[in-house]
Amino acid sequence: MSSWVVLKFGGTSVSSVEKWQTIAAIVQQKIQQGQRVLLVHSAASGITNLLTEKTTANRSIQQAVTEVLTTLAAQLGVDPQQLEPSLDLLRSLDDRDHLDTWEQAQLLSMGEQCTHVLAMAYLQQHLDIQSLNPKDWLISSDHDKRATDAQILTAKCDIKPDPAKQQSLTGACYAMPGFMAGDSQGRTVLLGRGGSDTSAAYMAVLLGASQLEIWTDVHGIFSANPHSIPNARLLLNLSYQEAREIAASGGKVLHPRCILPVEQHGIPLLIKNTNEPAAIGTVLAAAHTPKKPRVSAINNRHQITLVSMESINMWHQAGFMGDVFNIYKQLGLSIDLVSTAQTNITISLDNIDNVITDAVLRELKQALSPLCEVEVFRNCSAVTLVGYRIRALADKIAPVLSTFADQRIYITTQSSNDLNQTFVVDEDQADKLARALHEVLIIEDKELDDFGPTWAELIHNQTSKSERIPAWWQDHRESLLDLSRDHAPCYVYHLPTIQHQIEQLQKITAVDRFYYASKANSHPAILAHMQAHGVNLETVSPQEINQVEQACPGIAAADILFTPNFAPLKEYQAALAKGVQVTIDNPSLLFDYPEVFRGHAVILRLDPGHGSGHHRYVRTAGTHSKFGIPASEVEPVAKWCQQHDIEVKGLHAHAGSGILDHNNWSRIAEYLGSCLELFPAAKIINVGGGLGIRENPGDFGLDLAQLNHALTAFKQQHHGIELWMEPGRFLVAHCGVLLARVTQTKWKGRQGYIGIETGMNSLIRPALYGAWHNIVNLSQLDQATEYTANVVGPMCETGDVLGVDRKMPLTQVDDVLLIANTGAYGAVMASRYNLREPAQEIIFPD
Ligand code: LLP
Repeated sequence: MSSWVVLKFGGTSVSSVEKWQTIAAIVQQKIQQGQRVLLVHSAASGITNLLTEKTTANRSIQQAVTEVLTTLAAQLGVDPQQLEPSLDLLRSLDDRDHLDTWEQAQLLSMGEQCTHVLAMAYLQQHLDIQSLNPKDWLISSDHDKRATDAQILTAKCDIKPDPAKQQSLTGACYAMPGFMAGDSQGRTVLLGRGGSDTSAAYMAVLLGASQLEIWTDVHGIFSANPHSIPNARLLLNLSYQEAREIAASGGKVLHPRCILPVEQHGIPLLIKNTNEPAAIGTVLAAAHTPKKPRVSAINNRHQITLVSMESINMWHQAGFMGDVFNIYKQLGLSIDLVSTAQTNITISLDNIDNVITDAVLRELKQALSPLCEVEVFRNCSAVTLVGYRIRALADKIAPVLSTFADQRIYITTQSSNDLNQTFVVDEDQADKLARALHEVLIIEDKELDDFGPTWAELIHNQTSKSERIPAWWQDHRESLLDLSRDHAPCYVYHLPTIQHQIEQLQKITAVDRFYYASKANSHPAILAHMQAHGVNLETVSPQEINQVEQACPGIAAADILFTPNFAPLKEYQAALAKGVQVTIDNPSLLFDYPEVFRGHAVILRLDPGHGSGHHRYVRTAGTHSKFGIPASEVEPVAKWCQQHDIEVKGLHAHAGSGILDHNNWSRIAEYLGSCLELFPAAKIINVGGGLGIRENPGDFGLDLAQLNHALTAFKQQHHGIELWMEPGRFLVAHCGVLLARVTQTKWKGRQGYIGIETGMNSLIRPALYGAWHNIVNLSQLDQATEYTANVVGPMCETGDVLGVDRKMPLTQVDDVLLIANTGAYGAVMASRYNLREPAQEIIFPD
């Protein structure tokens, strides 16, 4: 019999008809090559998150889940009626107020099960394929000694090749939903996070497969997180051990649990990109154990909490550690890293499931206090080097660390197998440290085998094939070069591009009013353009209000929205006096100064609990963010407003900036909608801004049709509610370019530098967020790229880098470089650091 190959497709790879066409073609090809195929798939993206909202927040999800599934059914051209039996079960679970752990497992598995029903209906039109029930194949272990909840939600199976079961399969092609398994009594259990990968790995072992292929939406495992380090390189060949270490240290592509089964049975594991089936990927195999010292990846894990325990009593005190660790055990806290000195033990705690609350830490301190003095450091990050014989690379690592001498490195640990080394630092230092280490250990080492192209290179190929952003400047090269002669360094803004974006936005027909977040770019001509084209204006300071009033003479105060945060009271008073619409995001303002707001109608900004965005500095929800009224305060605030004659006319929330998940805004709307019953006068739901653009290479942009679809569904359920949205970046990012002349070039060893006349004083986004902006040499636009260089500014800061390792043509002094997509959060964030005036702003004369 020919050999088995197990193919696993994740959530984003199974969410559209195009993706299913690709899947069918891949399966077909394998069969033609004489292989037998088992296809394991996840739930279509978004569904499991929705189901989790039921299990964690008891929010009703049947409507939203049905919506996603019927949309997919329509796309696949299959009858949604087939879902009814599964949906009946889903509804009956959703209608319950409390679900026990078994029922939670049942509900959470519905995403995979429903997707499977649709997938089979579609695939059977194209392939001779049969369905396998995971509960017949994957049975959870009876020897699991962990707590019952863990046994149900992150079940483990004892798996070995099973010739009898193999023989029961006679066909060439099967499919199975991932993530779920059965226990010995036939009840549903789950395989935990990354569970579908684990299902596929287990099945590969059971079937004695020759290969496991994990198909996802990236090319493979990279040497760092490409979103913060775009020149991260694709790892072509990797040992299982390294891959496990990478997964455990923050790598997102594979879950560590899925690696062990294939490792134990020596089954090669390939990672492939569903968007580019023919492209190379990462291969894990026993033969790929490195022969010489190397660092293969550098990863960061954020939100780490450190506990430092100090006591002279621990010195030569038998059992001290045991007593201390027992306290952690009792509080259910799992310790990750440990470092000990004669009188100090410092440990780190992972906040994976948000278990580390202030209350838990208080309890911990109290319990430890008889034993030692305790200090807690929150907001730390662990930077981990993964590789082989890392100690041998100490001579390269030490100079990088010495440049961080002023920063605290709280813990350094090194595994005894020499496969990883970790540094725990303050969260705001982690990305910089990772970038510096990556530069020295991976980018500068040109002799490393097994490393493929960089993420930026791969995505450049991918995006140039499917470029959708109107790069207006490409058609105006000569005029821009003319402008730069007298005005560089300068930002140039192209109003027709803003117009194009306004028209795109207006496709979100569910939204009744758009307010442009003027903080993104408050150039008067841009503000005036917005107002002239039906977009109102959102502001966050009295200065922005003034700017809007001056740029848009005659604008009605009611068309201006004021959304300040921790601003002085007098700013609210002034805005109310003008008739500007005020949003309040702090209960204490209302509790302390009810007379200021009495008789006024205001909007309340609520914290939806979950932030998102392109960088952690721009995520504006959750306990770690200073914005919004927390859920626990909403009810008291509602009562208070009623008692004090403060009319709440609308509810607002903003999750963050640079969001590419189209479900974000309907999720916010749902949350705000669920609070409406407390505010009978509220008729406005403002879902905030944050609409992402293709910022990093590899971003696919936002699906506005889906976004509109989800918001339309929301509106249908909430009659009489007006929807508002307040985008900034989306409207203006593409319209702006920064032009600057080359001042000097330099080589340092093999590292090229191109210096330009302005830097982080004009554009701070790369330094602050590691943001990626396309940079081209406008003077040599048609020339082939010859080398890679860092593009840097003239400021006295090592961080004054606008682009790392950019492919450039031969570049000379006085050439003009263009930095693209700088219309949002460019000029508005400029400074006069070093007393260098930032780039001036010009409207492109069209
Ligand atoms: N509404 C509120 C309440 C906001 O705080 C913001 C942005 C927006 C709307 C507009 O968000 P947008 O659609 O532009 O993402 N400097 C960062 C972005 C910070 C955004 C701050 N708030 C950056 O350069 O990426």
